[in-house]
Amino acid sequence: MTVQSKLGFAYAATACGAIAGCRVNETQSAIHPAGPAAAEIAWLWWLMFWAFTAVFFLVLTLLTMAILRRLPQDALPPLGRTGFIVAGGIALPVFVVTPLLILSLRTSAALHLPEDALTIEVRGHMWWWEVRYPDHGIVTANEIRIPAGEPVRLELTSADVIHSFWVPSLNGKRDLIPGLQNTFWIQADQPGRYRGQCAEYCGTQHANMGFHVVALTPNEFRSWIAKRQQPRPPLSGEQQRGAEIFREAGCVKCHTVAGNKAQNEIGPDLTHIGSRDTLGAALIPNTPGNLAGWIANAPALKPGIEMPPTYLPPDDLLALVAYLESLQ
Ligand code: CUA
Repeated sequence: MTVQSKLGFAYAATACGAIAGCRVNETQSAIHPAGPAAAEIAWLWWLMFWAFTAVFFLVLTLLTMAILRRLPQDALPPLGRTGFIVAGGIALPVFVVTPLLILSLRTSAALHLPEDALTIEVRGHMWWWEVRYPDHGIVTANEIRIPAGEPVRLELTSADVIHSFWVPSLNGKRDLIPGLQNTFWIQADQPGRYRGQCAEYCGTQHANMGFHVVALTPNEFRSWIAKRQQPRPPLSGEQQRGAEIFREAGCVKCHTVAGNKAQNEIGPDLTHIGSRDTLGAALIPNTPGNLAGWIANAPALKPGIEMPPTYLPPDDLLALVAYLESLQ
């Protein structure tokens, strides 16, 4: 394949990702819980759904009877007018709402963070997620790898405006607020990928501020951590050139890659970019083609973001992609 045809393939792949809807997109559903916290919330949700459905049909029945004037004008309910108002307007709502309040408080209590959990720091940015494993010295973005079957404590904050962390199948929402640290937790019962989404309007690309929680078996999780901490295999010639281009083309002004004199935190840390499944905060799959298109013109895929287009000769772009994909 010539450089040009490879690049044509790269752009075609990007266009597919951006236009034809080849996006990584898993269901986000709070009524399909995949962890204990979400199961508590879903249980309460269904209880309220059926309780309020019953109330809805009761009100509709009374309304229909009133409209059809099925009751004679002078007929009084067995309790009398005042009794009817007290029973229907005060006693019934108290009877319906009080148990729901008690059960809601019970659910809130059940959502308390378990002790002894792995801690992960998540920082919201317009419009991506910074993810840090403080105990392991790992920094990544838009992807939170966790061990399945174990609670994970999250420390949430924001670098700019208020965002909201929400993985509907794992727990409720929690805001990320600048200057404040909120704690939260998630747990996935089974290994799998769970899509999350910013749930607080935070600007142009709020809708594209997605991420994934990837639950691994505890063994897989430990080996994922260990692999991130090992020294990297030596770079090939093309990857070496890509590393130089990374420094010369200005990528270093915004990004961090451990070991490549890049320590800037405006954009996502790219130390492990090659191991991530998506680009642009769960916007498109992380393939070499998509990555080339993203570098060439990220704002075309995600208008409003800070990453500018980068004009590179085709072989330089491919070398840069080869280097970034090697960063596992
Ligand atoms: Cu961040 Cu909406």
